[in-house]
Amino acid sequence: MSVAKKEYKRITVKSLVEMKQAGEKISMLTSYDYSMAKIVDGAGIDVILVGDSASNVMAGHETTLPITLDQMIYHASSVVRAITRCLVVVDLPFGSYQSDPKEALRSAIRIMKESGGHAVKMEGGKEIKESIKRILNAGIPVMGHLGLTPQSIYKFGTYTVRAKEEEEAAKLKEDALMLEKMGCFAIVLEKIPAKLAKEVAESLTIPVIGIGAGNGVDGQVLVVHDMLGMTHEFSPRFLRRYMNLYEDMTTAISQYVDDVKSLDFPNDKEMY
Ligand code: KIV
Repeated sequence: MSVAKKEYKRITVKSLVEMKQAGEKISMLTSYDYSMAKIVDGAGIDVILVGDSASNVMAGHETTLPITLDQMIYHASSVVRAITRCLVVVDLPFGSYQSDPKEALRSAIRIMKESGGHAVKMEGGKEIKESIKRILNAGIPVMGHLGLTPQSIYKFGTYTVRAKEEEEAAKLKEDALMLEKMGCFAIVLEKIPAKLAKEVAESLTIPVIGIGAGNGVDGQVLVVHDMLGMTHEFSPRFLRRYMNLYEDMTTAISQYVDDVKSLDFPNDKEMY
C-alpha cells in the first residue's frame, strides 16, 4: 500500500515529531556498517539505529552486555559515513551510563564527537533520570527505551513480553511521561502488549517507536539482519521476514565453492 508522505531532504529529531503530528508512521531499522547503511538509507528509511544488538548480530555474543563504547563508536562512524538523509541514533552501551551522570555525559559526548551520530538511545526510566538530564543539558538528543530492555536481561531472566502486570505497566507509563517531560525526542517500546503501547503513544506528543509493541504506536523498528532473513535461529511473533537471505546467501556461496573447485570460475571473460 502506498502512502502520502512529506518529502524530507534530511530527517531531524524535529521531523519525527512532525511525522507524528501528521499521522505519518516512522520507519527505523538497525545498521552497524557502511555497506548496509548505504542501502538502508538509500531505500528511504527515516532512522538508522546503531543498536547495541551489534553485540549479537555482528560479534556473536549471547547478550548486548559485552559491546564496548569504542566498538559502538566504530560501528556508528561507519554508518554515518554512508548516509545522506536519515537520522542516526546510537545506543549507549551497557556500563557507559549507569554508574554516574558525569560518566554518562562523557560517553554520550564521545559518541557524538567520534562517530558523528545525531542522537543517543538509553535504556531505562526513573533509575537513569540524572544521566539523561545531564546529557540533554549538553544539547545531545536522547531517545528513551522502555519495556524489554535487553541490557537488563539478567534481571528479567527471559526475553518474554514485559509489562503484562498492572504494576509494571503503571511504572512504564510513568517513565514514558517522565522521559517526555525531561525532553527526550522519542521513545522505543520493546515487547509489551499492543494495548499498553497504544495507550502510551496516544498520551504523549513525542513519537513512540515499537518493536513487538503492536500497530498503535507512531513507528516501527526491526533489526535489519532479522527482517532480511540473514538470521534464522529464532522467529519471534513480531518479526516479519522480507527475504530469506540466509538461504539465498548459502546457495550463492555453495555455488561459488563448486565453481572454484570445478574450474568453472573464472572463465575466459573473467580474466585479464
Ligand atoms: O539494539 C537494538 O537493536 C535495539 C532495538 C531492538 C530497538 O535496541
